[in-house]
Amino acid sequence: MIERKRVAILISGRGSNMKALVGASKNPIYPAEIALVLSNRVSAAGLAFAEATGIQTSVIDHKKYGTRESFDTAIDARLREAKIELVALAGFMRIMTAGFVDAWRDRMINIHPSLLPSYKGLHTHERALADGVKIHGCTSHFVRHDVDAGPIIAQAAVPVLEGDTPETLSARVLLAEHQLYPHALRLVASGRARVENERVVIADSREATAPLINPPLR
Ligand code: GRF
Repeated sequence: MIERKRVAILISGRGSNMKALVGASKNPIYPAEIALVLSNRVSAAGLAFAEATGIQTSVIDHKKYGTRESFDTAIDARLREAKIELVALAGFMRIMTAGFVDAWRDRMINIHPSLLPSYKGLHTHERALADGVKIHGCTSHFVRHDVDAGPIIAQAAVPVLEGDTPETLSARVLLAEHQLYPHALRLVASGRARVENERVVIADSREATAPLINPPLR
């Protein structure tokens, strides 16, 4: 039996990355089990999927808390109650306080739809198209105080094609996200991705050299 880390996935909406992580965790040799899906929105579409899959879910509605601190304290308490060891943000649209980020330092990861450090923040696909970049992509990283910053675990490159719209590009990047995030969580949960001097070191060098081009270049 391999040791599986107890993971909470934090979502705010669709939850397609959460589904990808849940799918990966169905493999008994995957080193993470999804022990909790937590949403700040009761209407998050991903919640229904998690419930139907038999995963424990929680809603902690940020609007019911007067401050960011009290909201984060409630989330932290729920995570500890569920004996969570790792947190995966997956389209969670709240900025966490520094205290919360510090409490989960090197135990909280995120997926972002760009090749960081380019295009932090929102509307990444629109901005990439406006700049005329030819390669776009996605990044999984450890969470730090600054939004969409922190040691990079893995990245996937996605070509920008002639005639792309924000919708077509975002759909192509999302497919890469669904491959990349389970890969990144696997590296972290198995202990093979470690932070040294604010850089991620991957223990197995074959795993480190896995920049994906999706779809493969012809
Ligand atoms: C994804 O593009 C993710 O990279 C970003 O928010 C989006 C969430 O999509 N952080 P989903 O809820 O996982 O489908």
